[in-house]
Amino acid sequence: MNPSESNVKPPLWLLAELTYRCPLQCPYCSNPLDFAQQEKELSTAQWIEVFKQARAMGAVQIGFSGGEPLVRKDLPELIRSARELGFYTNLITSGIGLTQKKIDAFAEAGLDHIQISFQASDETLNAALAGSQKAFQQKLEMARAVKAHGYPMVLNFVLHRHNIDQLDRIIELCIELEADDVELATCQFYGWAQLNREGLLPTRDQLVRAEAVVHRYREKMAASGNLANLLFVTPDYYEERPKGCMGGWGAIFLSVTPEGMALPCHSARQLPIRFPSVLEHSLQDIWFNSFGFNRYRGFDWMPEPCRSCDEKEKDFGGCRCQAFMLTGNADNADPVCSKSEHHGTILAAREQANCTNIQVNQLRFRNRANSERVNSQLI
Ligand code: FES
Repeated sequence: MNPSESNVKPPLWLLAELTYRCPLQCPYCSNPLDFAQQEKELSTAQWIEVFKQARAMGAVQIGFSGGEPLVRKDLPELIRSARELGFYTNLITSGIGLTQKKIDAFAEAGLDHIQISFQASDETLNAALAGSQKAFQQKLEMARAVKAHGYPMVLNFVLHRHNIDQLDRIIELCIELEADDVELATCQFYGWAQLNREGLLPTRDQLVRAEAVVHRYREKMAASGNLANLLFVTPDYYEERPKGCMGGWGAIFLSVTPEGMALPCHSARQLPIRFPSVLEHSLQDIWFNSFGFNRYRGFDWMPEPCRSCDEKEKDFGGCRCQAFMLTGNADNADPVCSKSEHHGTILAAREQANCTNIQVNQLRFRNRANSERVNSQLI
């Protein structure tokens, strides 16, 4: 059956990647490696048209991300339009470029929620990872300003082998800044993180220690009535079953890149698939009828071992992007799965994590000089 006639539900989540411009250079950025080749950005009116179409289809939540979305001068206008359309609006930012005046303007435009990301709990490591000496103090200042403004605030730390051992200090910092939610997300390996995987993947011992720290703080906070919500995300690489990535391909999530390419996940532009542009097709048509969005819907596309697996309705065969990056074929089972014939690549990465000695300054930082053209044959 044509999926457009089946029971495909409309998207709930729209991720508006407003720009690939960013003042920081994090070596685990999920942006594509060739981001510097993509200089075009949708105009204000084009973005608002995307929001209208997504909302008309039923999407309820919008994330403004990038790159660093604060570099878009029209951000208050975009927030206002999305809010007026009825979206719940999230700003996902490094905090660099944020000012008290902008916080006021975003509040006035109706922004619901701000997430600020940090690189570490101390200035030196934060500067080394972000590629900016001033970033840490700016982030502290803006986190305090966001909180003082009454926003619900999420602090996000991407964890990896260079900062995971300071997790207790990270959590202390979040408590001090009065975060409402804390996301301690161990690096997932897409984009620049995949390029730097050997230098970022924590060891199993590091993860076990980190889990114990989180557990201790959860108990401590519950006892003291200080209830910041601690979310700890472990990396796929230490699992035996894959995650149900994005809640299923083309099921709830729709991402639009700075120049208007519509994707079923933020990493899919690396796949050898020609994804449609919002400048050439309506979102309705893209979501229900495009080849790219239908490519991995349902179960008919699955080869073994996924096809006959009794867990396929839970994990959908895992992540298509990870399958492509690790096996060269996005149809394969995600190698995180121990049933995959490629699971050895995951075991080898775990093994490598025990013996590598790559330092922060040896990582490949996300900047224009390091950005490389990726050539894929598109279908
Ligand atoms: Fe693309 Fe998982 S990140 S399918």
